[in-house]
Amino acid sequence: MCGIFAYLNYHVPRTRREILEILLKGLLRLEYRGYDSAGVGIDGGNGKEWEANARSIQLIKQSGKVKALDDEITKQQDMDMDVEFDVHLGIAHTRWATHGAPSPVNSHPQRSDKSNEFIVIHNGIITNYKDLRKFLESKGYEFESETDTETIAKLVKYMYDNRESEDLSFATLVERVTQQLEGAFVLVFKSVHYPGEAVGTRRGGPLLIGVKSDHKLSTDHIPILYRSCTLLNCCVSNVLYCMSPDKKSVEYYFASDASAVIEHTNRVIFLEDDDVAAVTNGRLTIHRIKRTAGDHPARAIQTLQMELQQIMKGNYSSFMQKEIFEQPESVVNTMRGRVNFDDNTVILGGLKDHIKEIQRCRRLILIACGTSYHAGVATRQVLEELTELPVMVELASDFLDRNTPVFRDDVCFFISQSGETADSLMALHYCKERGALTVGVTNTVGSSISRETDCGVHINAGPEIGVASTKAYTSQFVALIMFALLMCDDRISMQPRRREIIQGLRVLPDLIKEVLSLDDEIQRLAAELYQQKSVLIMGRGYHYATCLEGALKIKEITYMHSEGILAGELKHGPLALVDKLMPVIMIIMRDHTYTKCQNALQQVVARSGRPIVICDKDDYETAKSSSRTIKVPHCVDCLQGVLSVIPLQLLSFHLAVLRGFDVDFPRNLAKSVTVE
Ligand code: F6R
Repeated sequence: MCGIFAYLNYHVPRTRREILEILLKGLLRLEYRGYDSAGVGIDGGNGKEWEANARSIQLIKQSGKVKALDDEITKQQDMDMDVEFDVHLGIAHTRWATHGAPSPVNSHPQRSDKSNEFIVIHNGIITNYKDLRKFLESKGYEFESETDTETIAKLVKYMYDNRESEDLSFATLVERVTQQLEGAFVLVFKSVHYPGEAVGTRRGGPLLIGVKSDHKLSTDHIPILYRSCTLLNCCVSNVLYCMSPDKKSVEYYFASDASAVIEHTNRVIFLEDDDVAAVTNGRLTIHRIKRTAGDHPARAIQTLQMELQQIMKGNYSSFMQKEIFEQPESVVNTMRGRVNFDDNTVILGGLKDHIKEIQRCRRLILIACGTSYHAGVATRQVLEELTELPVMVELASDFLDRNTPVFRDDVCFFISQSGETADSLMALHYCKERGALTVGVTNTVGSSISRETDCGVHINAGPEIGVASTKAYTSQFVALIMFALLMCDDRISMQPRRREIIQGLRVLPDLIKEVLSLDDEIQRLAAELYQQKSVLIMGRGYHYATCLEGALKIKEITYMHSEGILAGELKHGPLALVDKLMPVIMIIMRDHTYTKCQNALQQVVARSGRPIVICDKDDYETAKSSSRTIKVPHCVDCLQGVLSVIPLQLLSFHLAVLRGFDVDFPRNLAKSVTVE
């Protein structure tokens, strides 16, 4: 949901061409977060003195994807591309529109005035922007865009122009601005008044800083300093820690996520809400206005384990296709070092200190949005079976709308690929306030949910870039099953079932490969269906979640209408939709719902429906009543959903390709929904 990227080189000579290339590449990596317009703000001057160059700012913005911005930059004939900057800050943004339609003027960076004194990039929503705008208009400011972000750019200039002292630092200025803002924001600022300086801050969205330097950094941790701090080096307010000695070369990358920095450096600092990070004279400092209970006194410089190759498409036509085909490995990575198939044990290091407390809880509440919610629906039954606890599965937005009662002896799980989804994050704050133990199930190291929960499981699926979630779903599924197995590891009566499931996990990667080999067959099916308007997907029990997830995949990337229907509800309404024209996909597996699913199949056939059935590969009985079958290998019942969803992932992919849509960039959507 909007990609933020900034690059600052300090005593590392770079031409303008190189700087723009770095900025555009960063935006390309973040494009999945929003792709309706993009922009950059760089130093405008062409002289020899970097400082003089930084006293003017050039903005280039364009509607459409990053490629359109790239083309626009190429058209800028008057820019000297070979001029070299010893010190330079460029900021860049790729947008998912919230306020104001996609257009160059609504793109970011937004500016304070026509001479671009201050520019800012923003991810989030400022909820009090109307009041701020009214105030600024009363002071004579004229607005050019419809965005909430422009108020921030104007506000920073207003506060600068009305500063009480000449030596107001950029960080302090930004800090004052953020005190006036309500809502969610990740911001990076650049100004002609502070040449070569960058300030970034966040509240309710992700921001990290990558650091690259040939010389040894002076620390592994950056202490957080406070306004009235009396620590060493801190005799004056806001004097902060010096990361690199003067004149030594260093490069900084501010980014919404690690995929944008990994090709430059694997050393990153994840900022927390209300941190203000500033680079001045090549020194990175982080500070906060006030100390609050639970504040960590420092931010660690972490080493990312991610490889560049993981965020490249390789031979695949899209990230979504690559991620579907990665699932045999991604589920192995979810289990790696955690499941011992020889002695049927499961270890989840992130939960070990809390497992006893979880075992004693009143109920488990799984809270998530979209696909991650479906992972909760998919595993609820086995969680209930193995934990013998009541399990609620909640959509985060609805959970909050209802002010759902939560108690100290509840354990609340937050399932999220990105770990940044605003609704899930707010639900997490809600549950923490009520004293519940919180558990994160995320795919993004350093994400807000992984940091703010009491404990958790990292699903280790590797970066997921396609907007439509695929491998994260199957890894969340497996991670939740591992948790269920852990919860009953000392229950003698559960051991046969545990062994059955663990041995099911052992063969799961090979079975996934077998399902993926149906790709050609599914492509042929897609060729028959792609001109249809609607697809119904029916199933029950373990496969209801597959129906919901399959329908979501079809909706979001093919723009066809699709509905996941609980087969048990068929006769209570949805059956009216069935006729010989309506495409119906049914999931019928040999589990405890088999007979009931057969009844549903007969009900569809009796209405002249021609169901396409996903079934066990040796289920000849079902095949007789189906117009077509997609045969998947058999697996232990509670894991079968990992296999039944894959044909639907593939189907949605092929339908979208045949309908001529960009699979990785579905219209109106973005990955990582950091707004309410
Ligand atoms: C669908 C999809 C979304 C996300 C949802 C939650 O393909 O990707 O429905 O699942 O926005 O996102 P996370 O898991 O990042 O919290």
